[in-house]
Amino acid sequence: MQDSQRSRIGIFDSGVGGLTVLRELYQQLPQESILYFGDTARLPYGNRSSQEILQYVREILTWMEWEGVKMVIMACNTSSALALETVRQEFNLPILGVILPGARAAVRQGRRIGVISTPATAASNAYRDAIQEIDPQAQVWQVGCPEFVPLIEQNRIYDPYTRQVAQDYLQPLLEAKIDTLVFGCTHYQHLTPILQSLLPSSISLVDPAQYVVKAARQELEVLGLRNSLPALSTRFAVSGCPLNFAQLSQRWLKTRPEVEQIQLPVLPTAPIHPLERREDSTAVF
Ligand code: DGL
Repeated sequence: MQDSQRSRIGIFDSGVGGLTVLRELYQQLPQESILYFGDTARLPYGNRSSQEILQYVREILTWMEWEGVKMVIMACNTSSALALETVRQEFNLPILGVILPGARAAVRQGRRIGVISTPATAASNAYRDAIQEIDPQAQVWQVGCPEFVPLIEQNRIYDPYTRQVAQDYLQPLLEAKIDTLVFGCTHYQHLTPILQSLLPSSISLVDPAQYVVKAARQELEVLGLRNSLPALSTRFAVSGCPLNFAQLSQRWLKTRPEVEQIQLPVLPTAPIHPLERREDSTAVF
């Protein structure tokens, strides 16, 4: 077994949204080791400009490359919509985004497709373009939902206010009589119970997380990068408060993770061995 096969897969999001992709990785690729990064000091990404997102993504990828990851999954629709194409030309790493796998899954489900996402993803039209490139007959309604990510990150999923906000965001999609709803932000799977209670059961829900992981599995096969040894425990890092992330993510991970704090941009001085774990992080909880 080569070192490159045993290296971690890097996945990142602005916060806890990427945990929905992590959960899929645990299910579909249990033998892979993961490096998870949440850019919690700078969330929400969804209200930021494309220049800011591109800069953050470059910083994260530079750090992950330095850490020796063998592949990166952008577990973030906003980054996938605004930065994926550019950084793919800049980094010598396989980098996967969630939009194309999500769009492919959506057209298999229906023709009247609603997409809920961050305002930045909605404004980019990335989902509409990807869906209509696959199926020009498909109709797409995109709704930017600026309040969802802050509410999820504040652990307010079951607040009556969150339900009211969700109702408001879904209203135009219900009026448009969509048959399929795409979670165009990785955070939104955490809202599934609320969204399901507001939608008729005839509407299919598409979570791109499961399809991006399927695509990652295929890519690892093609590149000969699959690991067959037992996985290392997941390494979690954030740019904001590790304690907050550990507390919030416990609910979905069913265990309290150890979380390091990383300050970006990290300016690497020398390359390190891909399997070497860095011990110079500023904080671990
Ligand atoms: N979860 C991310 C996404 O899929 C980012 C959300 C945010 O920080 O606004 O877009």
